[in-house]
Amino acid sequence: MEINKIAVLGAGLMGHGICQVAAQTCSYHVTLRDVEQRFLDSGMKMIRTSLEKFESKGQLKSGEAKQIMERIHPTLSLEEAARDADLVIEAVPERIEIKTPTFKEVDECAPKHAIIASNTSSISITQLAALTSRPEKVCGMHFFNPPQLMQLVEVIRGMRTSNETIDAIIDTAHRMRKETVLVKKDSPGFIVNRILIPALNEAVALFWEGVADRDDIDKAIKLGLNWPMGPLKLLDYIGADTTLSIAEVLEQGIDPRFHPTTGLRQMVQAKLLGRKVGKGFYEWTGGH
Ligand code: 3HC
Repeated sequence: MEINKIAVLGAGLMGHGICQVAAQTCSYHVTLRDVEQRFLDSGMKMIRTSLEKFESKGQLKSGEAKQIMERIHPTLSLEEAARDADLVIEAVPERIEIKTPTFKEVDECAPKHAIIASNTSSISITQLAALTSRPEKVCGMHFFNPPQLMQLVEVIRGMRTSNETIDAIIDTAHRMRKETVLVKKDSPGFIVNRILIPALNEAVALFWEGVADRDDIDKAIKLGLNWPMGPLKLLDYIGADTTLSIAEVLEQGIDPRFHPTTGLRQMVQAKLLGRKVGKGFYEWTGGH
């Protein structure tokens, strides 16, 4: 199946980046939908800033950023975004009460042949697929933050996802110049988050127990394991709330050993969510 037109739902941290990657790497026309104008404006601004960075480094030719921007069509209407899409990539907030009506509405608006792929980091693809009349055309397409720079896409097969859908999504991800891995069974956290989230949770425990200071925990993992950023910084980068909700899904869906630490819960209660609010384990000014 050929994918020519893509709709991305959600212009937030992940959605704007996925939309940019699609428009930038394979000349797709992409409709970017969000529920409020301010979210669309902020998503379009993040895309412009990122493209300018690439252009200033010579990774895009002069004028190319403008052409890419012209291929992106922001809208507040889900119907408009989905009605002629071959692929709808859902990147709305990671809450089932938001994903549920979104999936139902997309299923009503999108053409019968369209694939619906979710960028969910932990919610069951099978559960999302069951909200639609086309479970064989629903799968997971999990990008990593920031999607513009991170190489990987996890492709997740739900219980009823067809081979044709999986092949089309792997092909689309490759056109977006991403590497893919196939998650053959729909299991909480898929591959990466099942390994990453317990590590971040444990870093918070070390900090909370006073075993080591923030900078030493991050330095230890950066230099000892060659991570590009330490776990507490990465946690800020992902968001403490997102990390907590993935930890809860792992705990409920796999085993109590994934229990989120008190420290992680308290960071969320204190609204020290990280980069997106300007403060977490670190102070973030201007996104850095
Ligand atoms: N668009 C374009 N360029 C960008 C960019 C963007 N969105 N974000 C950063 N850059 C550029 C910077 O401007 C910088 O350019 P320069 O070298 O010319 O100054 C370059 O990328 C490197 O950025 P920084 O200097 O700010 O910092 P780093 O060298 O540390 O690189 C990073 C940034 C690529 C984010 C790197 O730190 C990294 O790989 N960190 C780990 C990220 C990670 O693990 N992500 C996965 C999280 S888990 C996830 O997403 C799953 C979810 O389900 C939870």
